[in-house]
Amino acid sequence: MIQTLEWTEFGVRFIDQTKLPTEETYVTCKTHQQVADVIRDMVVRGAPAIGVAAAMGIALGVKNSKAVSVAELKPEFDQICDVMGKTRPTAVNLFWAIGRMRDKFESLRVRPLAQIKQALIEEAQRMHAEDIAANQAMGRHGAALMPASGGVLTHCNAGALATCGYGTALGVIRAAVAQGKKIHVYADETRPFLQGSRLTAWELMKDGIPTTVISDNMAGAMMKQGKIAAIVVGADRIAANGDVANKIGTYTVAVLAREHGIPFYVAAPFSTIDLATSDGSKIPIEQRNRLEVTHIAGKQMVPDGVSVENPAFDVTPAKYVSAIVTELGIARAPYENSLRQLAEDSAKAGA
Ligand code: MRU
Repeated sequence: MIQTLEWTEFGVRFIDQTKLPTEETYVTCKTHQQVADVIRDMVVRGAPAIGVAAAMGIALGVKNSKAVSVAELKPEFDQICDVMGKTRPTAVNLFWAIGRMRDKFESLRVRPLAQIKQALIEEAQRMHAEDIAANQAMGRHGAALMPASGGVLTHCNAGALATCGYGTALGVIRAAVAQGKKIHVYADETRPFLQGSRLTAWELMKDGIPTTVISDNMAGAMMKQGKIAAIVVGADRIAANGDVANKIGTYTVAVLAREHGIPFYVAAPFSTIDLATSDGSKIPIEQRNRLEVTHIAGKQMVPDGVSVENPAFDVTPAKYVSAIVTELGIARAPYENSLRQLAEDSAKAGA
């Protein structure tokens, strides 16, 4: 399995996703500030991977702390969490992971420092293992939704590289292929950062899953030609009403899917569901550097001085979503009810 990120005795090690697909190189962060930088700079990206990266960054910051008492460590811990929380605003898994590390810290405050440090490292490692297990469970649930044969379109990268392993949307595809389904993946290239052509195609080729890369503006034509039997994407945040924030361009794909009568599925772990946010209009959308739009591989593609927009995500209204696949099962409309039911199931499972 691809090691997207891992805790090592030397620091937190990441495959450098900015270098793929032509170079497979790794970077090891030795400080929490370095972890924050690799999240912001997209060396690691994808909502679940961002969450676990932040948890490991917090564990690293606490490990490196020179504090001599818990009282001295507490403000430092808060500051480390703040640094992580300012990296990328849309993926709710980031805030979920920081919250979980905060809860762990609070539960340990009466313990000796060495024990606190070790327990936070173990908590981050546990989150890593749980993420892979959640993706495999999502795969088991979601594979049944995939066609026995035919094209499946995906957008951005919701694969092993966006998670700790196996993937969400690509996990569903992997599980379906493992069951013997004859799936051919159509990967939207996903401008401006090209996660589809660089990352999704790279990891599916490694697995030997047939893949065709298309530029984003070809998706409608492929659907019209009958090449796409289903669509499956990941999510960065799902509001309580089922509105889905995902990579910019997802909304376009969902509307086209409705026009062509193609099911549009979203696969995401429960940590991506944000019941505190009532609907998609309240989800903060990250604005990224204009250079991602104006340049491709360092070459300028637009005239000097032209105005540019670069929202990293869009929101697909719940009415376009055929089902949401989670590790706890499949939710269907009305999502206000089905997502809350999953939350209750999740609380019971954790009890
Ligand atoms: O900006 P990115 O590359 O972090 O955006 C990633 C996506 O939009 C993914 O589709 C999403 O995080 C789901 S990942 C399992």
